[in-house]
Amino acid sequence: MTPWNTVHTLAIGGLAAATTASAASLGSYNVDPESISVSGLSSGGFMAAQLGIAYSDTFKTGFGVFAGGPYDCARNQYYTMCMYNMNPSITTPIANMQNWSGAEIDDVANLKDRRVYMQVGTSDTTVGPNVMAQLKAQLAEFATDSNTVYITTDGAAHTFPTDFDGAGNSPCGVASSPFVSNCGYDGAGEVLKWMYGELEARNDGAASGEVLEFEQTGSYGADGMGSSGYIYIPAVCTDGLTACRLHVALHGCQQSYGQIQAKFIENTGYNKWADTNNIIILYPQATTDNTMHPVWNGGQLPNPNACWDWVGWYGADADQKGGVQMAAIVSQVIQITSGSA
Ligand SMILES: *[C@@H]1O[C@H](CO)[C@@H](O)[C@H](O)[C@H]1NC(C)=O
Repeated sequence: MTPWNTVHTLAIGGLAAATTASAASLGSYNVDPESISVSGLSSGGFMAAQLGIAYSDTFKTGFGVFAGGPYDCARNQYYTMCMYNMNPSITTPIANMQNWSGAEIDDVANLKDRRVYMQVGTSDTTVGPNVMAQLKAQLAEFATDSNTVYITTDGAAHTFPTDFDGAGNSPCGVASSPFVSNCGYDGAGEVLKWMYGELEARNDGAASGEVLEFEQTGSYGADGMGSSGYIYIPAVCTDGLTACRLHVALHGCQQSYGQIQAKFIENTGYNKWADTNNIIILYPQATTDNTMHPVWNGGQLPNPNACWDWVGWYGADADQKGGVQMAAIVSQVIQITSGSA
């Protein structure tokens, strides 16, 4: 702990940006409402697809999934069928998307106009290529081929892929904490380019802006979420004069701030691209929960790894509009974008 308690620092790619230690209220910024997108790894990948599908009116640009699986996968089959390198059924999930369209979830016709990015490592045995292939097959029913990209990364295990070394990273071929690895593939850059088109070169130097800690309380919080979230604001997005974009980046299981501190925020590379391309990056946070909860497909499970809810821990509507974690993230998005000029 620092001897003073008003400021601590988060290293950004080896450099430091100041952030307040006592979480502030979430700010509002001049963000183009058409520019909102989301991506995530593992349970954060499942959640990114849930948000991109259920809230497609909000995530108007699109969504990216790193090592996740089909939308609604664990509702109708045991969740382990949606992991490892299993072949989950997508029949009922597709039928549910069609049935829920325009009510429990936003109109699935929106998905024709959304950018969709998918990535999986060939050596991923946690949520591997077979599971991702089923997400791809499911989305092919709704999205447009030319708006969709599917990337496989040779030799990559269950990890967030980058093309630079980050302090404390795990090896690319090994699924271990912090699950961020130099795999010679710039996942953050590629998903952001798929969302927004050609981008200015990333900033590998000193960050222009700050990572701010904010309170995930009230409408910005929910069961299974931490008391604080984080947000990277490029300097150019602070004065309201520039219309910025918003990307939501969701950590995977065992990657919350409480578990790996700022390594998901620092080492993934999202902020480097954000800095030079007027993109605000929102990092909502899940938290560990050792309480047993009933889940969609029967039985009870705790959530000791701080996973995002892709199994129904926090309500039968976890992947529908109003699902508490999605509603909290969307409330954060609405607040951030409320300074739109
Ligand atoms: C469609 O969704 C509604 C609302 O969730 C549900 O009551 C109904 O059983 C569903 N129909 C089918 C055919 O799944």
